[in-house]
Amino acid sequence: MKTLILYSTRDGQTREIATRLGAELKVSGLESDILNLHDNASIHWADYDRVVLGASIRYGHFHRSVSAFIQKHLQQLNNLPSAFFSVNLVARKPEKNTPETNSYTRKFLLNSPWHPDCCAVFAGALRYPRYGWLDKFMIRLIMKMTDGETDTSKEVVYTDWQQVSFFAVEIAQLGSKQQA
Ligand SMILES: Cc1cc2nc3c(=O)[nH]c(=O)nc-3n(C[C@H](O)[C@H](O)[C@H](O)COP(=O)(O)O)c2cc1C
Repeated sequence: MKTLILYSTRDGQTREIATRLGAELKVSGLESDILNLHDNASIHWADYDRVVLGASIRYGHFHRSVSAFIQKHLQQLNNLPSAFFSVNLVARKPEKNTPETNSYTRKFLLNSPWHPDCCAVFAGALRYPRYGWLDKFMIRLIMKMTDGETDTSKEVVYTDWQQVSFFAVEIAQLGSKQQA
């Protein structure tokens, strides 16, 4: 049996975190498959004994494919031991990097018909040089309002990789679930 790690990314940081989780799980002796949720690949659920889903925030929202995926695979998601992680820049602030204190994540968990067994919030990356002019302008404005980096020549990775490792340990420890 393997772990299924699904990710929804725009600029690659959520994929990097998913890849790191996969590598950490391997250290614990757990094999995983890492899939881009947007690829719409058919999933052979019987191969997996746990599932992890990670998604990033853009302009206050996860990609709509995330909720569509959850609706489509709700039974499998709720039947397997599962974990969710969200990735955003608000979470670079320590007081906003838990499922309870990160508003995107809190709202998601409150409204989601899927109830993951564990959840984490990771700070993402700020990559000004890769953004188009409008996104660059908007992100800089948000950064200015929230005392963040405003130098548009910079790329800053805020992800706390140790926090990612701790989450991998939590995932590895997820117990089996009674099948409905
Ligand atoms: C156009 C754009 C809009 C964003 N909007 C938000 C936002 O509303 N709130 C937030 O906390 N972070 C926001 N971010 C930051 C992203 O969540 C962060 O860069 C994250 O690392 C992106 O992950 P990804 O590379 O997996 O897509 C935004 C980033 C971009 C480029």
